[in-house]
Amino acid sequence: MDTLSIRRPDDWHLHLRDGDMLRLVAPQSRHFARAIIMPNLVPPVVTGAEAAAYRDRVTAAGFAGPLMTLYLTEDTDPADVVQAHADGIITAVKLYPAGATTNSASGVRDFEAVRPVLAAMEKAGVPLCIHGEVTDRDIDIFDREATFVDRTLAPLRAAHPALKITSEHVTTREAVQFVQDHDNIGATITVQHLMANRNDMLAGGMRPHFYCLPILKRATHQEALRAAATSGDPKFFLGTDSAPHPTHAKEATCCAAGCFTAPHALSCLAHVFEEEDALDRLEGFTSLHGPAHYGLDANVDRITLTKGAALDLPDRIEAHGQSVTLFDPGHPLYWHVEDNA
Ligand code: DOR
Ligand code: ZN
Repeated sequence: MDTLSIRRPDDWHLHLRDGDMLRLVAPQSRHFARAIIMPNLVPPVVTGAEAAAYRDRVTAAGFAGPLMTLYLTEDTDPADVVQAHADGIITAVKLYPAGATTNSASGVRDFEAVRPVLAAMEKAGVPLCIHGEVTDRDIDIFDREATFVDRTLAPLRAAHPALKITSEHVTTREAVQFVQDHDNIGATITVQHLMANRNDMLAGGMRPHFYCLPILKRATHQEALRAAATSGDPKFFLGTDSAPHPTHAKEATCCAAGCFTAPHALSCLAHVFEEEDALDRLEGFTSLHGPAHYGLDANVDRITLTKGAALDLPDRIEAHGQSVTLFDPGHPLYWHVEDNA
C-alpha cells in the first residue's frame, strides 16, 4: 500500500504560543482541521474572555480550527468555566500540577481547592485534560507519570465518575493500562513518544530536540504506546503536543521541554503505522477516535498520503524574527501529505 486516503486529521493537543511564534507556527498545522489549543501562555489563559481573545489571535495568525481550553488554577471560577463551555468558547479545561512543566507555576497544588470546579464540570459535561505527572522532587523524573496514576488519577477517577477525562501525552505502560481499564477516559499520544525512547535522547550524546515532558521513557514503554496507538482502540488518539521553543532555548545549558512536530507529524505517524503493519488503523488514530471522545463529528473532507522519495525537510523554520527546529527522528521519512480540500 503506497497511497492512503483518510478523513482529515485533528490534533487533540497543540501549543501555538502567542505573538511572533504564533505567527510562525500557526500555518504549520495546516494538515489538521481542528486542534485543542493549550492555554499555558505567559500569563496563562484562565477566563472565558481570555480564551475568546486568544482564539481570535490564533485564527488571525492562520489556524482556522482552534478548540480552546482554560488553564485550571486554584482561583478558577466554576461559573465562568460552565458559561464559557455553554457559549462554545472552550472545549475543555487543562489541569497542570504546579511545577510539572513549561509555564505551569499557576497550576494546581492542592487538589481539594479545585473540587468545586471539577464538580461543576462533571455536572455540565465539560471535559478535563490532565498533564499526569507528580512534581515531588523526591520522585524520579522517569517515575512521575506512573506515580501520578496511582496517587492522583485513580482517586480523581473514582471521585468524579461522570467527568470526561483526557489523559494527555501518555508515556508509560501504566498510564495505558489505566486508560484501558477505566470508563470515561481517553488518552492522547504524541509523535515523539511513538518514534523514540530515552536512548534516542541520551545514548551517545545528549540531544535536546528529543527533550520534552513527560520525558521519553525506556523502550518497553515506547512499545506499549505503539501497541495502544495501532490497536484500533478508540480510547487512544493523536495529540501531537507540538511544543515549539526558539532554537536557542532548546540548544541551551538548561534546555526547554518540547518537540516541534506539527509540520511533519502525519509523515512520522504513517511511518510508525507502516512499521507496525497497521496503516489501515491510522485513520482511526488521527481522524476518528478524537472526535468521538469529544462528542464531535469527524471531518468530512479527506487528505491523501503517498509513499515516495525521502522527504526534504528543513532543519529549522525561520520567520517573524523567530527560529524553531523540527523534531528529527533520525531516519528519513517517505510519506507525503497531499491536501485535497
Ligand atoms: O514538553 C513539553 N512542552 N511538555 C509540556 O507539558 C509543555 C510543553 C510546552 O509548553 O513547552
Ligand atoms: Zn503540551
